[in-house]
Amino acid sequence: MSKPQIISNPADVQKAAREWKKEGLSIGLVPTMGYLHDGHRSLIHKAVEQNDRVIVSIFVNPIQFGPNEDLDNYPRDLEADTAVCESEGVDIIFHPEPKDMYGDHFLTHVEVDEITKVLCGRSRPVHFKGVTTVVNKLMNISKADRAYFGQKDAQQLAVVKKMVKDLNIDIEVVGCPIVREEDGLAKSSRNKYLSPEERKAAVVLSRSLNRAHALMDEGERNADKIRSTISDELSKEPLADPEYVSVVDSETLQDIKGDINDPVLVAIAVRIGSTRLIDNFSFEL
Ligand code: PAF
Repeated sequence: MSKPQIISNPADVQKAAREWKKEGLSIGLVPTMGYLHDGHRSLIHKAVEQNDRVIVSIFVNPIQFGPNEDLDNYPRDLEADTAVCESEGVDIIFHPEPKDMYGDHFLTHVEVDEITKVLCGRSRPVHFKGVTTVVNKLMNISKADRAYFGQKDAQQLAVVKKMVKDLNIDIEVVGCPIVREEDGLAKSSRNKYLSPEERKAAVVLSRSLNRAHALMDEGERNADKIRSTISDELSKEPLADPEYVSVVDSETLQDIKGDINDPVLVAIAVRIGSTRLIDNFSFEL
């Protein structure tokens, strides 16, 4: 398998994409911030399966981090990431510097309203504006036919889908299932921050969601009961500090009050020590 080309200049990626388009080849885009794990690998794998050419972007996007967040500490390992991309058959790794993306007196942002103000948006007010701006740029640079996102960031997936629909962007957004560790913890680059004790405690996220899922499987439809089941389970873990426990409409992301009658997203954000983790499941009726 040949090594992917590593390109930092957006214009060079655009040029390669333009050539591929001329030849009638389809392009898949996997946007990432690097430090690739099996969750990313599953996205890349699908992209390679479904497209003639694949671009993986590795860019720790500064504008989606708030002032007190982990931009400076965010884990990076380009060598290991290149090996993952090579083993999956990726064609281009787009690895720009912030100046390549935002250097030239950058003035334009893309913002999705309403659904970015709930769930993670409450504690991360600038986050989704940074995500939609960079994803829009990545879509334009890669000229991709399909872009791949993990269901673990369910709100991000919903926000990107809304942006693509509202702005008539000619791309298919493909959501891919959450990939988990053996004990249930959702794979995330941020799991690296956990101490061994915290790592053990972190399994409470998936355990609490599993309890809620089992209740729903048995027919429970009361959103308050689902929320309290999760909160009770989380409260048993002293290292867990929940930020939110939510049952929301899958599309509008607005809280469900009373009975659940439409597909829902059950989503949580929990601090384990100083590490903020998220997890979720979707439930179709
Ligand atoms: O999910 C991520 O890693 C990032 O939010 C993304 C989509 C690559 C945008 O920077």
